[in-house]
Amino acid sequence: MATIHANVRPEDLSQVTKGPERIPDPGILVIFGASGDLTKRKLLPALFHLRQADLLPKEFAIVGVARRPLGDEFAADMRAGIVEFGGVDTSDPKLDDFIRHIGYFPLKFDDPADYAGLKAELDRIDRERNIGGKRVFYLATAPEFFAGIVENLGAQNMAQPEKGVASVVIEKPFGHDLDSARELNHQVNAVFQESQVFRIDHYLGKETVQNILVFRFANGMFEPVWNRNYIDHVQITAAETLGVEGRGPFYEKAGALRDVVQNHMMELLSFVAMEPPSSFDSDAVRREKVKAWRAIPPVPILNAVRGQYGPGLIDGQHVAGYRDEDRVNPNSGTETYAALRLEIENWRWAGVPFYLRAGKRLKKRATEISIQFKQPPLLIFNRMAGSGPCQQIQPNLLTIRIQPDEGISLRFGAKVPTTPKMDVCPVIMDFDYEAAFGKSIANGYERLLLDAMLGDQTLFSHRDGVEINWALYTPILDAWAAKKTEVFPNYFAGSWGPECAEHLLERWGHTWRNDLGRKV
Ligand code: BG6
Repeated sequence: MATIHANVRPEDLSQVTKGPERIPDPGILVIFGASGDLTKRKLLPALFHLRQADLLPKEFAIVGVARRPLGDEFAADMRAGIVEFGGVDTSDPKLDDFIRHIGYFPLKFDDPADYAGLKAELDRIDRERNIGGKRVFYLATAPEFFAGIVENLGAQNMAQPEKGVASVVIEKPFGHDLDSARELNHQVNAVFQESQVFRIDHYLGKETVQNILVFRFANGMFEPVWNRNYIDHVQITAAETLGVEGRGPFYEKAGALRDVVQNHMMELLSFVAMEPPSSFDSDAVRREKVKAWRAIPPVPILNAVRGQYGPGLIDGQHVAGYRDEDRVNPNSGTETYAALRLEIENWRWAGVPFYLRAGKRLKKRATEISIQFKQPPLLIFNRMAGSGPCQQIQPNLLTIRIQPDEGISLRFGAKVPTTPKMDVCPVIMDFDYEAAFGKSIANGYERLLLDAMLGDQTLFSHRDGVEINWALYTPILDAWAAKKTEVFPNYFAGSWGPECAEHLLERWGHTWRNDLGRKV
C-alpha cells in the first residue's frame, strides 16, 4: 500500500498558534500512597518535566505520604525514578534543586491524629517557603482508602482552609459499580465542593487524545462529514500485550470492563462523539461529553462479550495463562478482554455502531480509533472494462493512533498509474507525531498535574460523567457476575481475543480491524 506523509515544515513550526502560558500559584502537592509505583514512575518524572519547562512556581513543595517510615531515602528514590522513568540526565542542572523541594511524612491513613501531624507539617513548610496556603491532595492509594482520607482531611479543616485554597485529585478506579461510585461521590462532596475535585483518567493526559479535539474542531474539513450521513461505523481498540503485571489481586476484582472500558475507552468515545463545545472551558467541554454519554441506550447483554487469556506466545515467548498468574484464583471468572457494541441515539449518530474492545495479552499493543466511512456508489468503476469488482475497493478509513506510533492516517483509493485500466489501489496519507514534532518524553501526567494545580477541570471527570458511565456498565457487570458459565480461558495469549468477539461484529456485517499500527 502506498503512503503519503504529512510533514510539518520548519517554517510552519514558527507559526504555531500558541495557547496561553499558565503557571500555577505557589502550593504544596501532597501525594498519598507515595511509596507506590505511580509516584515514582509517572508523577515525579512528570513534575520534573514541568520544572524543566519552567511551568512550576518557584515556591513549591511536594510531600509524599504513605504508611512506611521513610525519611530522606524517599527523595533519593524519587530522584532515581525521575532519571530512570523520566528520561532525565543525572547531570541536569535543575535536578538537585528540584529534589530539595521533596519531603516525606509517614501517616496511617485511618489515624486522625496523624492528620493533625500532617497539617502541622504542611503549615511549617508553608511558612518556611512562603507558600500562601494552597494545597493539592493527590490520592494515589488503593481505592478503599479514598473515602477515609477525604474524611480526615475534612476533619482537620484541610479541605476548606482559612487561608489559601485546597483541591483533591482522585485516581481511578472511582467506585466499582454505580452504587459505590455514588457513595464515593457523596463522601467526597461532603468535604470538597465539586469545583475542588479532580477525578483523574490518565488517558486524557495523552497528547493524541487531546488532539482529537484539535483535529475535529480546529479544522474545517472533517466536521461536515463527522456524522451518520458519512460514517459507517467506529471501532475503538485498546489492545495490550502485557498481562496483569503482578497486579493479580487488584485485577481479580476489576476485570477489563471496569479497568479500561468504563473509563479510558468511554473518554475516547466522548471525544469522538461529542458536539463542538462553545469554548474549551471546563464546563462547556464536560457538558458536551455528558450529553454524548447520556444518549447511549442500555446495551443488550448479547452485544457485550468477554474473554480470558490462556497460555500462549507473545513476541515468540511463552507466557502463562491468566489463571496461572501470581495471586489469581486458578478458577477465576474475571474477564481480561471485553468487547461491545454501543449506539448513540442522537441526531448526529443514530444508527452508527460504535464497537469497543479492550484486552490484555493480545497480539499487538495498539490503542486506536478507526472511523470507517460509507462507500460511495462505485458502479462507474465496475462497468469500466478491465477494472476489478467494486466490492474490492476499500472504504475510506480514518485512523487515530493513540499509542504507540502516535499519529493519524487516512486511507483512500487512487488510480494505479501503470495500467491503462481503471485499477484502484488503497493508499494512505499519514501524519506521524514523532516524525513531525520529534520524540516527546512526556508521559501524559504533566498536563493533568499542571491543570490540577491551576484548578482547570476540563480534562477531569465530573461526578455526573462517572455515574452515567457506571449506570451503563453496571447491568452488564451484574449479568456477567450472575452468569458464571463462561468457558474460560477462551483465547490464547498472543491472539486477537475470543471468537465470540468476532461473532459479535459478524452479526452486524462488520469485522474487527486487526492491521493496527503504522503502515510504513
Ligand atoms: C490502567 C489500567 O488504568 O491503564 C491498566 O489499570 C492498563 O490495566 C493501563 O494497562 C493502560 O494504560 P496505557 O497508558 O498503558 O494505555
